[in-house]
Amino acid sequence: MTESKLLQGKVVVISGVGPALGTTLAVRCAGAGADVVLAARTATRLEEVAKEVVALGQRAVTVPTDITDQVSAENLVSTAVDAYGKVDVLINNAFSVPSMKPLARTDFDHIRGSFELTVLGALRLTQLFTPALAEAHGAVVNINSMVLRHSQERYGSYKMAKAALLAMSQSLSTELGPQGIRVNSVAPGYIWGDTLKQYFAHQAEKYGITVDQIYEHTAANTDLKRLPEGDEIADAVIFLASPMAAAITGQCLDVNCGEFHH
Ligand SMILES: NC(=O)c1ccc[n+]([C@@H]2O[C@H](COP(=O)([O-])OP(=O)(O)OC[C@H]3O[C@@H](n4cnc5c(N)ncnc54)[C@H](OP(=O)(O)O)[C@@H]3O)[C@@H](O)[C@H]2O)c1
Repeated sequence: MTESKLLQGKVVVISGVGPALGTTLAVRCAGAGADVVLAARTATRLEEVAKEVVALGQRAVTVPTDITDQVSAENLVSTAVDAYGKVDVLINNAFSVPSMKPLARTDFDHIRGSFELTVLGALRLTQLFTPALAEAHGAVVNINSMVLRHSQERYGSYKMAKAALLAMSQSLSTELGPQGIRVNSVAPGYIWGDTLKQYFAHQAEKYGITVDQIYEHTAANTDLKRLPEGDEIADAVIFLASPMAAAITGQCLDVNCGEFHH
């Protein structure tokens, strides 16, 4: 699909630029015409992603950041504003693998850690970027998950954190709307990328079947009989961040090939 320049002239901050969706978001936002600010704890990855952005003709500023740390987050905000003089979009994508134990056996510290990152990390950045976003009449997009739509075993602590992130996004939409800031969420289903491919390869070896068989079995639960790809998640994020969604706030867009209907 040809990328239209939906984010032409915009400055987009992406928090949690990891190897998977975070990188895809950075590259696709640049493809849509945005200059970007890349934040995560691993400086070397930020530099690699910045090169991809620059190769697309856009600017990139890298800011090694721990979003659970107030001073580090304050440095991200001041560096972003100093570099570009404005911020139009904040994408909260940061992620660490949640506890996959049943809730009945999940350590409270693990649940606290996941809230610190997913909920309070996103809230901290939203608070700190609010003055700049208000000036720009900007947008926040919080990356959620289809875990919102099911209650499968072992996803309890992940679901608790993402459900709180959704609740927070809705409340922030109400609170920040009068300042012209929109707050939306994107809830991806399975993302057909390297992480899932490696996991399916592991499962295939374990059960003596092929990756294709696991893919088909998983995709059978979706209306489109396939799994969404990272670029397709990014398209939804770019839409919500763009002027095309100027009247949309407080919403959650599910991108799961129809696996769950909401
Ligand atoms: N992958 C899927 O199938 C899937 C499905 C549904 C939803 N999602 C959602 O999509 C989002 C991205 O997931 P992904 O797996 O593709 O991850 P990713 O974008 O590859 O990586 C996220 C990055 O967040 C960074 N991060 C973690 N803690 C941080 C902290 N304290 N401060 C700053 N950055 C931090 C980590 O980089 P550093 O270690 O360098 O900080 C990590 O690599 C998540 O919100 C996830 O819940 C993913």
